[in-house]
Amino acid sequence: MKRRTLAVVLAAGESKRMISSKSKVLHEVGNQEMIVHVLKALAGANIDKVALVLGRDAHAVEQAARRVGLPVSVFIQTERLGTGHAVLAARDEINQNYDEVIVVYGDTPLITADPLNAALDGVRQGHDIAVIGFQAGDPTGYGRLLTKNGELVAIREEKDASDEERKTRYCNSGLMAINGKKAIEYLDRITNNNAKQEYYLTDLVEIARATNGTAVAVEAPEDELAGCNNRAELAMLEAIWQNKKRKALMLSGVTMIAPETVFLSHDTEIEPDVTIEPNVIFGPGVRVQSNAVIHAFCHIEGALVGSGATVGPFARLRPGADLGQDSKVGNFCEVKKAKVGAGAKINHLSYIGDAEIGERSNIGAGTITCNYDGINKHLTVIGKDAFIGSNSALVAPVSVGDGALVASGSIITEDVPANAAAFGRARQVNKPDHAATIKQRNIAFKAAKKPQAG
Ligand code: UD1
Ligand code: CA
Repeated sequence: MKRRTLAVVLAAGESKRMISSKSKVLHEVGNQEMIVHVLKALAGANIDKVALVLGRDAHAVEQAARRVGLPVSVFIQTERLGTGHAVLAARDEINQNYDEVIVVYGDTPLITADPLNAALDGVRQGHDIAVIGFQAGDPTGYGRLLTKNGELVAIREEKDASDEERKTRYCNSGLMAINGKKAIEYLDRITNNNAKQEYYLTDLVEIARATNGTAVAVEAPEDELAGCNNRAELAMLEAIWQNKKRKALMLSGVTMIAPETVFLSHDTEIEPDVTIEPNVIFGPGVRVQSNAVIHAFCHIEGALVGSGATVGPFARLRPGADLGQDSKVGNFCEVKKAKVGAGAKINHLSYIGDAEIGERSNIGAGTITCNYDGINKHLTVIGKDAFIGSNSALVAPVSVGDGALVASGSIITEDVPANAAAFGRARQVNKPDHAATIKQRNIAFKAAKKPQAG
C-alpha cells in the first residue's frame, strides 16, 4: 500500500514583531505569500495532506494555502502554549493513521523539498524522529542538537542548555518528521516543565528514546531554513530568494548585466538568450521569450514579451500586455491589456491600453489610446501595416484599418477604413506678418501689470 504522509504547518504565531494587521505568513517573498512557498515545497515532497495550525487571520491564510492544490484541513490554536501544544491542535488529523507526520513552520519560505524528503526518509528507514538541523552562523536563540554516535540524543532549548551544550553550532530548524503511528502517543507525553513553561515539540527526541525509539538529525543549508520574525528579516529572506532565482535564470541561459538590480517574482519565466539590462522589476505573471531584450529601468507585470522583442529603456508593461515577435516598445511607453503584433513598433512616449495592434504597424511618438470614458473601458483596434502619426489621440471604441495612415496630431473619433489617410485635426492658417502684432500685444500686457513707481 502507498504510504501516507501528513504535514502539520505551524502558523499560529501572533507575529507581534511584524507590526502588521495581517498574519505574518501572508507577507510575501518573490511576490508570493510565505505560506504558499511552504506548501509548494510540501507538494514537491509528495505530501498527501496538510494540517494548518492557525491563529489570527485564519480564513485568509487558508485561502492562500488552498491555491497550491494540496488537500488542507484547518485547526485553530486558541492559546499559544508552545510548539508541542501547537502540533496537538491538529490531533484529529494526526489520528488518521498516517505513516509519517512532518512538522514545518509557515514562516520559512526558502524551504525546498530536499530537506523535507531527507527527514521523511529518516523515518521511512525506521527512525521514530528525524529532525532537520543546520550549522548556524550565529546559534543564538536556537535549540541545540545534541548528537552521539550518529544518533540524535536530545534538542536543548537555549534557555535550558548548559554552557557546554550551548557551544554547539548544530541547531534545530524546528522542522521534524515523526513516525505517524507513534506521533500522538509521543506528543501526549510532552510537559511544560522547562524554563519557558511551554510545551516543547523538541522534547519528542528524548520521549522517543525513553521508549526504545531512535532519533536522527539530517543537515540542511542554513539558508533554506531561515525564518521570519520581523520586516528586516523579511527583507533578508527576499534578498536570498532573489539571488537564488537570478542565479537559476542565469544558469538557464539568461544574460543579466547587473543581476543584483533585477527583481523577479516567483513565477517569472525567462527563456534562454534573453538579455536583461540593469534595474528591471518583474511583477507576477511575466514570461519573456528567447532573444528578447529588456533595456534598463523597466517595470513589467502580467505580460508576455515575444521572442526577439525589445522593451524600454523606461517602459512599463502592465497586465495583459502581449508583445509579438520582434515588436518594440520604447522609452516612456506604457502598454496595458493590448496585443501588439509581430514587428509592430511603439517607440516613444505612448500609452496603449485596451488595444490590438496589427503586425508591422508603427505607432508614432506620443500616441494615446483614449480607452476610458470615466466609466467604461473601450477597445482600439489597429490593423496591419498601419501608421499612426505622432501625438495622435485614438478615442475608443475606434478602429484603424490595415495599411491606413493617421496624420500627426489627429484626434480620431471615427473608424478609419483600410488604406485610408485620416486627418483629424484643424487645418493650419498662416497670417502674414502677424507675429509682430502678437508680440506687441504681449509686451503691452506685461507693462500694464507692473506696479506703478511712486
Ligand atoms: C523553536 C524550537 C527551537 C528551534 C527554533 C527554530 C521549540 C521548543 N523550539 O523555537 O529548538 O531552534 O524553533 O526557529 O520548538 N507556534 C505556534 N503556536 C505556538 C508556538 C509556536 O503556532 O504555541 C509556531 C510559531 O508561529 C512559529 C513556530 O511555531 O512559526 C516556532 O515557534 P517559536 O515560538 O518561534 O519557536 P522558537 O522559540 O523560535
Ligand atoms: Ca522562532
